[in-house]
Amino acid sequence: MEFQDVVRRRRMVRRYTPEPVAESSLSRILDNAVRAPSAGFSQGWSFVVLDTPEDVARYWAVFAGDSEPPTQPAGDDRWLAGMRTAPVLVIPCSSKAAYLARYAEPDKGWEDRAEARWPMPFWHMDTAMAVQNMLLTVVDEGLGACYFGIPPSSDVAVREAFGIPAEWDPVGVVSIGHPDLQGPSAQGSPARRTRKARGEVVHRGRW
Ligand SMILES: Cc1cc2nc3c(=O)[nH]c(=O)nc-3n(C[C@H](O)[C@H](O)[C@H](O)COP(=O)(O)O)c2cc1C
Repeated sequence: MEFQDVVRRRRMVRRYTPEPVAESSLSRILDNAVRAPSAGFSQGWSFVVLDTPEDVARYWAVFAGDSEPPTQPAGDDRWLAGMRTAPVLVIPCSSKAAYLARYAEPDKGWEDRAEARWPMPFWHMDTAMAVQNMLLTVVDEGLGACYFGIPPSSDVAVREAFGIPAEWDPVGVVSIGHPDLQGPSAQGSPARRTRKARGEVVHRGRW
C-alpha cells in the first residue's frame, strides 16, 4: 500500500470479525514495532502478546473486575462488546529503569541516574513510537487496530495477570484483528469532533 494511503486510512477500529490474524502479519507488526527510534537506542520496550482466546479472555476478565469506570464514554456497552471481538491484544510496556541504566553508560555519562535530567519521559515516548509503527503496519496488512488505555485502577491486576515485572510499565493495549465494519461498533471521538486544520496547529517561525 502507498505510504500516504496507510497514513490516511489509519483509524481506530473497535469491532472485529472472527477471522484470526495471520502469524506472518503479527510477526511483521511486531518486527516493525522494534524498528521505532529510541533515545540512546535504549529500546526499553517490551510487548506482551495475547493471541489465544484464553489469554484474550483473561485480559477482559481483569478489565471487568475493575472497580473504576473504564476510560470510555459512560454507558457505552458497545465499546466493550466490540473490543472483546479482537482476536489479538498486545500490551506494550516501557521501562524507565532501562533508560536510566543506558544513560549511565560511559558514552552518555549520567551516572547519577537523576530523573531531573530527563526533559521528557523518553521511555513512554519511545514505546508510543513503537505503537504507532504497529498501527501503521496493521493498516498495511489490511487489518485494523485500536490503542486504548489501561485504567489506573486495573494496573496492578494487569501486571499480576500477565506477570509483568515491577520495573516495567504497561502503557496501554493494542487490539488487532480484521475490521468488522457492519456490526454495532462504538464510534470514536472523530464522530463528534473535527480534525484540526494544519493552519490551526502549525506555527512557523514562532508561536
Ligand atoms: C493516548 C491515546 C489514548 C487513547 N485511549 C483510547 C481509549 O481508551 N479507548 C478508545 O476507544 N480509543 C482510545 N484512543 C483512540 C482515540 O480516541 C483516537 O485515536 C482519536 O479519537 C482519533 O481517531 P482515529 O485514531 O480513529 O483517527 C486513544 C488514543 C491515544 C493516542
